[in-house]
Amino acid sequence: MASLPQTEFERRLSAFAGTIAAHLERLLPTGGAPAPRLVEAMRYALLAPGKRIRPFFVAESARLFEVGEIPALQAGAAIECVHCYSLVHDDLPAMDDDDLRRGRPTVHKAFDEATAILAGDALLTFAFEILSSEATHADASVRGELIAELAKAAGKDGMAGGQMLDLAAESEKIADLGRIVTLQAMKTGALFRFALRAGAILGKAGANERAALSLYADRIGLAFQIADDILDVEASSATLGKTAGKDKVAGKATYVDLLGLDGAKAEARKLVDEAKDALALFAGKATILAAAADYVVARRK
Ligand code: IPE
Ligand code: IPE
Ligand code: MG
Ligand code: MG
Ligand code: MG
Repeated sequence: MASLPQTEFERRLSAFAGTIAAHLERLLPTGGAPAPRLVEAMRYALLAPGKRIRPFFVAESARLFEVGEIPALQAGAAIECVHCYSLVHDDLPAMDDDDLRRGRPTVHKAFDEATAILAGDALLTFAFEILSSEATHADASVRGELIAELAKAAGKDGMAGGQMLDLAAESEKIADLGRIVTLQAMKTGALFRFALRAGAILGKAGANERAALSLYADRIGLAFQIADDILDVEASSATLGKTAGKDKVAGKATYVDLLGLDGAKAEARKLVDEAKDALALFAGKATILAAAADYVVARRK
């Protein structure tokens, strides 16, 4: 699978980050809200400088099926809302207890815990409000399908379930690769799966194309979390914009813990290769997705 050079890929990702940030800003403006502090906290979480890789994946999968820009931005905004909610709650004292996120104090530090919980709640539900808007797709059955997929990806069998297993593993000290794969596929992979399938849903793509994107997403989701766990060990807090070196102290169940740094890196590379193989169906149309697979493990933050 031919792939775009990494520098060109990163240029595109950073240009897209500006586009989706502007769309998020339009969807969640300041002023006129009956609970302005809540909106302020939501905006603080949502508009902080993230990589925006999940909405980028929505846009790239949508491009394969010639979906228009606004529907892709709407579905991208929805997944970014769910992702940011997951970060706000992940950082709470009851969970990972982090003070730094995207280079800034976490929401419960900048505001307070109750506001952080509510901002997370409101971001999660806002995602579904966005998907249910006619701007997302003229066909209500397409909107319904997106809503159902995002609900499943975020809930008990997806992100929230994975976060539960992640916390349980801290005290159980599990050293079982199968359980780590399940946990990471749920807590991180499920949102990537939604992102890649969203474009196919918007474009009313066929079963083969959906299956290929699902396979790509599953490999990318795991590789992304392995890279996150490697960065926790190898990178600095200043570069990451979040506190490094915390997983070992917390006793997190990670590939690095089980396989060592070299073993985890080899596994991530293998997953990236499998992800790229899954794109064969799209041939020359998927060079950006192929580059994205490399980026997931080559990234420095
Ligand atoms: C962090 O996600 C949480 C994980 C699932 C590892 P990102 O690395 O995408 O965080 P942002 O959005 O760029 O801040
Ligand atoms: C987070 O995993 C997964 C989520 C669903 C938020 P981590 O706890 O490793 O993410 P970071 O390192 O805090 O971003
Ligand atoms: Mg966590
Ligand atoms: Mg965390
Ligand atoms: Mg981490």
